[in-house]
Amino acid sequence: MPGDKSISHRAIMIGAISRGRTIAKDLLDCDDCNYTIRAFGEMGIKIKKDGAYTAIDGNGLRGLAKPEHALNVGNSGTTMRLLAGILAGQNFTSVLEGDASLSARPMKRITEPLSMMGVGIRSKDGYPPLEVKGGNVKAVHYRMPIASAQIKSAILFAGLYADGVTVVEETAGSRDHTERMLKYFGARIKSEGFKSSVEGGQELEAKSVAVPGDISSASFFAAGAVLLAGSRVCIEGVCINPTRAGVLDVLTRMGARIRVVNKKDLFEPVGDIEVESGAIRGVTIEAPEIPAIIDELPVIFVLASLASGRTVIKGAGELKVKETDRIRSMKENLEAMGAKISVSEGAIMIEGVNSLQGAGIKTYGDHRTCMAMAIAALGAKGQSVIDDAGCVSKSLPGFFGMLEKLK
Ligand code: S3P
Repeated sequence: MPGDKSISHRAIMIGAISRGRTIAKDLLDCDDCNYTIRAFGEMGIKIKKDGAYTAIDGNGLRGLAKPEHALNVGNSGTTMRLLAGILAGQNFTSVLEGDASLSARPMKRITEPLSMMGVGIRSKDGYPPLEVKGGNVKAVHYRMPIASAQIKSAILFAGLYADGVTVVEETAGSRDHTERMLKYFGARIKSEGFKSSVEGGQELEAKSVAVPGDISSASFFAAGAVLLAGSRVCIEGVCINPTRAGVLDVLTRMGARIRVVNKKDLFEPVGDIEVESGAIRGVTIEAPEIPAIIDELPVIFVLASLASGRTVIKGAGELKVKETDRIRSMKENLEAMGAKISVSEGAIMIEGVNSLQGAGIKTYGDHRTCMAMAIAALGAKGQSVIDDAGCVSKSLPGFFGMLEKLK
């Protein structure tokens, strides 16, 4: 499984602000991570790829150079939000801009806490572009209204430049890749429950990072194996960090034949996922579980559509502000195939049906809608046609080639 997207972004960013050469193995080669690489290149950081290895020559915490133009981060929300935290501490003003889809995604969630930290950050009425006036950063204790690793990470990054200890508290645990990697690079950072605190003013030291496989990408293949009779798939070297791998728990509760073997503990826990086809049943997913399955929900919609009984998903409103409104895109596409989905305030209800029929699929330019619906199409009777399958290059350019190999 290609490298984890979230961890790849963090390896580039943390490598760039560390002292010395970081070598990242199996860094994900995809549009989003390449936008992160390009942005740091425009700020004077040398990043070179050689086979499976990428060398990142870090220049220290405040070692970025002022970019000549606005930094274009394409469709990558992770790049824009996390980078805003790092730019907050630089001695220059910079602008972050994105494509039309990213320009419609909310940024107040970033500008609010960073403004509280004394950063001069401006958006266009809560949306990109963002102008970040770097410089003095004040330590804060921030209680996040939304569980989001992107917001938490932006604050922790800004906290590296602050005049004291910055504390972020969440109501549910979002992915903790930033905390783990900062610690791995030698930072004094503490996490307890849903609270993390980082000390300002410490330098980070370059490291070797082996990026584990991406569980979000793996979940499409796991779901395919569950749904297609006679399948058996082993997905090797996948990150099974519990703040990320909630899909394994959901699949187990659905009755899927799935197990994790060969577990290893690097700076992130890793394992091989073995999955076999078999009948599955509907489940109830409670709101606190959502952060650990946020990117896997589209494919969980697909599984639920072909499970026996009802699946109820509570508190998944954040899906509306991803690359597209994923509640709408998944409902519309699955309904076109014959699924039964209803959405009310706070809950999504999916009644399993016996079979789906092939249909025309609209991705809305969203990679995860596309890959989830490709799995639905494999599980459906007849042919489906996807309107814009190229969007998978955002996170997994090889998706369709990998599916071909599993025939
Ligand atoms: C990400 C966090 C999640 C996730 C996104 C990647 C990250 O977003 O949906 O694909 O790498 O931190 P939120 O933190 O906004 O929920």
